[in-house]
Amino acid sequence: MPKKKVFITGVAGFLGSHLADAMLAEGCEVAGCDNLIGGYADNVPKGIEFHKIDCGDLEAMRKATKGTEIMYHCACTAYEGLSVFSPSLVAQNTYQITASVISASIANKVQRFVHCSSMARYGTQKVVPFTEELICKPQDPYGISKYASELLLKNLAEVHGMEYVIVVPHNIIGPRQKYDDPYRNVASIMINLMLQGRQPIIYGDGEQKRCFSFVQDDIDCLKKVAFQNNVIGEVINIGPDEEFITINELARRIAGLLDFKLKPTYMPGRPQEVKLAACSANKVRKLLGYKTNVSLDEGLRSMIAYIKERKPKPFTYHIAVEINNRKTPETWTNNFFNKYAAR
Ligand SMILES: NC(=O)c1ccc[n+]([C@@H]2O[C@H](COP(=O)([O-])OP(=O)(O)OC[C@H]3O[C@@H](n4cnc5c(N)ncnc54)[C@H](O)[C@@H]3O)[C@@H](O)[C@H]2O)c1
Repeated sequence: MPKKKVFITGVAGFLGSHLADAMLAEGCEVAGCDNLIGGYADNVPKGIEFHKIDCGDLEAMRKATKGTEIMYHCACTAYEGLSVFSPSLVAQNTYQITASVISASIANKVQRFVHCSSMARYGTQKVVPFTEELICKPQDPYGISKYASELLLKNLAEVHGMEYVIVVPHNIIGPRQKYDDPYRNVASIMINLMLQGRQPIIYGDGEQKRCFSFVQDDIDCLKKVAFQNNVIGEVINIGPDEEFITINELARRIAGLLDFKLKPTYMPGRPQEVKLAACSANKVRKLLGYKTNVSLDEGLRSMIAYIKERKPKPFTYHIAVEINNRKTPETWTNNFFNKYAAR
């Protein structure tokens, strides 16, 4: 593959840091930025040029991205459930920063812009799994901001002649995912709790269904997106459409792997949570040769090993809950997960 100058936003994050490793391994020159609102500073791979900046700072982004050929935009506060309670922060760190990253990219004549969207773009649909041509019906501020970001990219890329690709990863699991975050990453939260001898929390009846992707399977496709011409202007789901399982089953799988006596605590369902969500992998199999190489159990095992090595941790309530009313999940207020340990 040709060696390119690649810039990755959100490079201290889960996906961004794995992508940086993969692009370094391809021989690319890699730079990236992060403001460390999420992710872990030690996720940033050695061998990249790192800028600790906020993507919303247009001047800083213009400077940092000079000479970039491929832009991967991974930075986001990807808090879907929380977004109905912290809409300002989530919209700012999803839609507004995307406008800034696109603007800097066009000013610097970036050749190709790869945008990480989300399956939240689809909302609730009559048919599962979701295919890319469905009419998007996002149903929370995160999904709305992600979809609006796609429209913005399409518009500006067409006006200014920049190649673009919209990728839609979903429910990724694996090492380096933030596991002390109370607001997202269900599998990591469950593992962190169970390793501390505490029962997992399940929202609603736990019969919501999802397909989980192992990070390396997604990265194998994501890196090809920089180089192949058959993906330009496309929206592509990235991840498996096998092992469509309930959150109850996910808890049972993790408990089985940890030999943990499971008795989950059920909390009220979260507003706007989609019940059945899975993406079709037909297009990614065809365009990028996607293959699920790592099963859900293998992926969970590797997350367990990662969290054991770093040690389970208290949860950090690092994001402000803007709207606190009777609909706000108790788990997101008053340091719940950490106090819950003492119950
Ligand atoms: N992980 C998943 O399952 C999943 C699923 C669908 C889509 N995505 C998308 O993939 C991308 C990466 O997700 P992830 O799971 O790696 O998330 P992550 O939280 O691990 O990484 C995102 C990174 O972006 C950084 N960031 C946020 N706002 C920023 C800003 N204003 N300026 C600079 N940096 C900022 C955070 O500090 C964090 O390190 C996101 O766009 C997300 O919406 C992820």
